[in-house]
Amino acid sequence: MSTPFHVFDIARTSEMLEPVDFNRRDRLTHVDRCFPAEIVNVIRLTGSEKLFQLRIVDRAERERFRFKAGQFVMVEVPGYGEIPISISSSPSKPDILELCIRRAGVVTGALHRARRGATVGIRGPFGSHFPMASMRGHSVLLIAGGLGLAPLRSAIYDTIDHRSEFADVRILYGTGDPGNLLFDYQYDEWRRIDDIDLQVIVERPDDAWTGPVGMITDLLDRIELDPARTFAIVCGPPVMFRFVCARLSEAGMPMQRMLVSLERRMHCGMGKCCRCNVGSTFTCLDGPVFDFWTVMNLKEAI
Ligand SMILES: Cc1cc2nc3c(=O)[nH]c(=O)nc-3n(C[C@H](O)[C@H](O)[C@H](O)COP(=O)(O)OP(=O)(O)OC[C@H]3O[C@@H](n4cnc5c(N)ncnc54)[C@H](O)[C@@H]3O)c2cc1C
Ligand code: FES
Repeated sequence: MSTPFHVFDIARTSEMLEPVDFNRRDRLTHVDRCFPAEIVNVIRLTGSEKLFQLRIVDRAERERFRFKAGQFVMVEVPGYGEIPISISSSPSKPDILELCIRRAGVVTGALHRARRGATVGIRGPFGSHFPMASMRGHSVLLIAGGLGLAPLRSAIYDTIDHRSEFADVRILYGTGDPGNLLFDYQYDEWRRIDDIDLQVIVERPDDAWTGPVGMITDLLDRIELDPARTFAIVCGPPVMFRFVCARLSEAGMPMQRMLVSLERRMHCGMGKCCRCNVGSTFTCLDGPVFDFWTVMNLKEAI
């Protein structure tokens, strides 16, 4: 005799015919082991951001650890918690990992109190990366607002390390106050690299500021863009993506060649906890780097 359950079971059977990757691990190079890493140096960048230089303690694991520009690690501070942080250093120098961390709350606060020689845990690297290989042979426009320079710096190093493989390289960086500029001690060094054009703008200048004043989009008016042969990477607050990507789009750049890095609250970093999903997309696995076309088609992504 048929029952309502019988009907229900038939529906379930057809659903289950699709193969499901329950662990969502097929895209992870390795999984959830946490490696002790020593804080070998701490550099104060601004009143609320510090650069942490870390070295994975185990030599074999240190040699195994390789990452690509745009990826992130999960940093565990014993007794406080674990947080996602973008890798800010050069993928060509993976022995020392540099993380630029803003003091925001519990875990970042504990990290800001940590001294040289302290040990934290590192898992990763996780997530998608900027498609630097596909960008070779093209011009690149690297745009950051505020803390967005943290993930972008890894892409900047990639272009510097392989300068001859890219056409024009332009870096545009904007922030609120001159006192909040990240990595200002490196600007001259970057500008000295062959043909790298770095422009920095602030919204609220102080008496010492001699550079341009305004929003990051104002810098776009100052450059000549060849949209047919340029890739753009845009890192910063989501509201910035909207304005910057709209301007690039108006200039004729396809949205598939604009890359952005999305931030969500994350817990596992590896597609297990469902903290970071946007619809059925997991920011930790499918992102954090997405092309802007994908972002525009993800409901509530920005
Ligand atoms: C992929 C990824 C990369 C990141 N890279 C960096 C980085 O390079 N440098 C850096 O300083 N931060 C980065 N963040 C943000 C960082 O993870 C959060 O600031 C951190 O988790 C806050 O932890 P907490 O315990 O100190 O703060 P909590 O005590 O948990 O919270 C303090 C405040 O921060 C807010 N907050 C917490 N988590 C996030 C988050 N993921 N995004 C935005 N706001 C948050 C809370 O809403 C609250 O207002 C990244 C986040 C992601 C998802
Ligand atoms: S952080 Fe857990 S699923 Fe993405």
